[in-house]
Amino acid sequence: DQEVLREIAAAWRSANNIVVFTGAGMSTESGLPDFRSKQGLWKDRPETLATLAALKAKPDEFYFFYQWRIARLWEVQPNPGHLALAELAQAGFVTKLVTQNVDGLHQRAGSQGVAELHGTLRTVSCIKCGSQYDSRQMLPHNDTWEEDYKAGRYRHGSECYCPRCQGQLRPDVVLFGESLPDTAWNEAVRWSRKADFFVVIGSSLVVSPANYLPQLAVEQGAKLLIINSDSTPLDDAAAWVIREKAGEVLTGIKELILRM
Ligand code: APR
Repeated sequence: DQEVLREIAAAWRSANNIVVFTGAGMSTESGLPDFRSKQGLWKDRPETLATLAALKAKPDEFYFFYQWRIARLWEVQPNPGHLALAELAQAGFVTKLVTQNVDGLHQRAGSQGVAELHGTLRTVSCIKCGSQYDSRQMLPHNDTWEEDYKAGRYRHGSECYCPRCQGQLRPDVVLFGESLPDTAWNEAVRWSRKADFFVVIGSSLVVSPANYLPQLAVEQGAKLLIINSDSTPLDDAAAWVIREKAGEVLTGIKELILRM
């Protein structure tokens, strides 16, 4: 309610090092499904599908999982939550934005210096020659591919191969079992250590090592704010838990902070 939001806005405004940490729940209001909530599209599949093993063993499912998400990526827009965070950063109220998301919506909303812990779906790379392409390079060139896949007709065609060396293309996301990008991870740890105010938005906090960051901040004495529709393992450690939609809450808090 308003009283709690005013309290949060005052604490956020007076903090010195503010880390904002986002997950898939940040982008559901843009139309991108998350992974693990009841309306998540890929209930148990991320861990089984988002792997190099799956690329080898079941390329059709692997490619459909990523082609579907890449196709959506280029159709959706940042939502009010992304825009509110970019405005708060502009006014100096976000020290570091760390995201598990690979959709690039924070950057498109204007956020800078975003640490993408799990890579990005904006580009794909050849596993043989390492050439990097815009991720639309990995989309099939026929527009019936979704129906084909759902009807079991789908066979990923030559579209998924490197134009240079015909090697297999893969999205530039961190697949399960792969290590996180050094720079993004090191920056995220450094800022989480220094944080006196840590905000988790739209994450179930079940995937490591990303979920270590809010714990690290709390251990260093940071105040933790969680904005998430479902419960998380860190709710008890949070100073505030807001079970409402990120877009609305962030817009409300942003207005309170910028008006103070
Ligand atoms: N507002 C607030 N919270 C929301 C909203 C919303 N509009 N929509 C969804 N949520 C919450 C859900 O309740 C859920 O707890 O966001 C959370 C999303 O959790 P996950 O689907 O597990 O996504 P995330 O935590 O980002 O997953 C981490 O897992 O599959 C891997 O690499 C992938 O980065 C991803 C990682």
